[in-house]
Amino acid sequence: MKITKICCIGAGYVGGPTMAVIAQKCPHIQVTVVDLNEQRIKDWNDPNTKNIPIYEPGLSSIVAEARGRNLFFSTEVDKAIDEAEMIFISVNTPTKTYGKGKGMAADLKYIELCARQIARVAKQNKIVVEKSTLPVRTAEAIKSILDNTGNGVQFQILSNPEFLAEGTAVTDLLNPDRILIGGDTTPEGEIAIKALVDVYANWVAEEKILTTNVWSSELSKLTANAFLAQRISSINAMSELCEKTGADVSEVARAIGMDSRIGPKFLKASVGFGGSCFQKDILNLVYIAKSYGLNEVADYWEQVIVMNDHQKRRFSNKIVQTLYNTVADKKIAFLGWAFKKDTNDTRESAAIYVADDLINEQAKIAVYDPKVSEHKIMNDLNYLETRSVTDNKNAVVAFENAYDACKDAHAIAILTEWDEFVSYDWQKIYDNMHKPAFVFDGRNILNAKELEEIGFVYHGIGS
Ligand code: NAD
Ligand code: UGA
Repeated sequence: MKITKICCIGAGYVGGPTMAVIAQKCPHIQVTVVDLNEQRIKDWNDPNTKNIPIYEPGLSSIVAEARGRNLFFSTEVDKAIDEAEMIFISVNTPTKTYGKGKGMAADLKYIELCARQIARVAKQNKIVVEKSTLPVRTAEAIKSILDNTGNGVQFQILSNPEFLAEGTAVTDLLNPDRILIGGDTTPEGEIAIKALVDVYANWVAEEKILTTNVWSSELSKLTANAFLAQRISSINAMSELCEKTGADVSEVARAIGMDSRIGPKFLKASVGFGGSCFQKDILNLVYIAKSYGLNEVADYWEQVIVMNDHQKRRFSNKIVQTLYNTVADKKIAFLGWAFKKDTNDTRESAAIYVADDLINEQAKIAVYDPKVSEHKIMNDLNYLETRSVTDNKNAVVAFENAYDACKDAHAIAILTEWDEFVSYDWQKIYDNMHKPAFVFDGRNILNAKELEEIGFVYHGIGS
């Protein structure tokens, strides 16, 4: 079976970049990305591709190349479903905020809506691909909805989780470590798997395309994120011990990373991991384990989140303690708000929680992030519902550049590892600050020795 038309439901951080790359690499396939969010689609269709809603290095030029040729962004969901032989579901699967599993389980209401819509619209056989990250055995529920509410056509469900990381989405998509496709072992299942393998084979070597059963594929995605997040919590746990003992966590990370069984990646101690997925996916894993009565398994993974929360709180406590146990009415400059560099995504960013703690202590926060607007920063804080919108507004101001944000500040906190921070004129920043001038480097990106020579009091993570 040869795929000629693909529909992707969900034009977010996964759907947008993933489909842009498929369209670029498969000019013979028409790819339509649909979303209920009209503004988002409008932004994807902005004539100037620099204004597309997601900032990822290299993405705007791919969109410029493929959009209007074989890549389309639309709000006409029914039409795109009807025309496509293969439908990717890339909608959000946030943590539930209500009912059973509140605060832990994945909220599958958007997934179910997609399944019902596909069932209602489809008049021919379709391959439905789970691109969103889902609890293991979700394909069963999707299949049941499709088969029981559909028009008698055949559906094959594949699991094809996405492993891209934000900030490097385009390179990850162009050169993936692996593509994972889970499907049924029936003859129809095999045909569907082959159809999706053929799409990726346009640019990914066949030995990197792994096929498994559906449940292994679904669970591998949660497992991968749990292992990655666990490494960060492990090194962050060590960072606290380093601070007590005179060891330096960067040296420890280098020493253990040279063991080929451990490897050097993902060992950067930090103010704590953020992003929309690690916490959500681990909570989901914990919930699944608990639902099977596997309490030890659940507790084991939950500790990764406990450690991460501790690391964020520890960072804000350190700022307060170092500033003579009071930050009331002191200006603290935040450099960075995004959850990592090279993205405008702020979901679950450590900056939000550190700011929230410091505002509770009546600090004034001045933020500069190269890609995040004041509007987004205020939304992030208001979403926590810790205090009124007016109180947040009185406590936080965003600046267009770092020098203004740091002027008259008592301390600077580095929350995101943006490259540009390293090359600043730190002498100039120092000259315009209150003394003693403190730097709390939540990313260990600055040169401690150089800053100390200027006169800063420098605090990194884990040294
Ligand atoms: P997102 O919130 O950026 O995008 C999801 C989009 O789906 C939104 O624009 C929303 O309007 C749309 N949507 C929701 N319901 C819809 C419906 N019924 N019809 C049409 N559109 C609908 O989310 P995201 O970051 O792209 O994540 C999507 C999924 O991919 C999640 O399951 C996530 O865990 C997973 N994932 C994300 C990343 C990442 O880096 N962000 C990486 C790998 C996997
Ligand atoms: C992560 C995974 O890396 C992707 O493989 C996965 O597809 C994705 O989640 C997902 O499922 O959404 P992402 O969250 O975009 O990607 O970014 P990461 O590079 O993993 O960083 C996550 C957080 O961990 C960031 O806040 C980052 O600053 C932090 N981090 C990362 C550290 O503190 N130390 C490190 O060594 C690495």
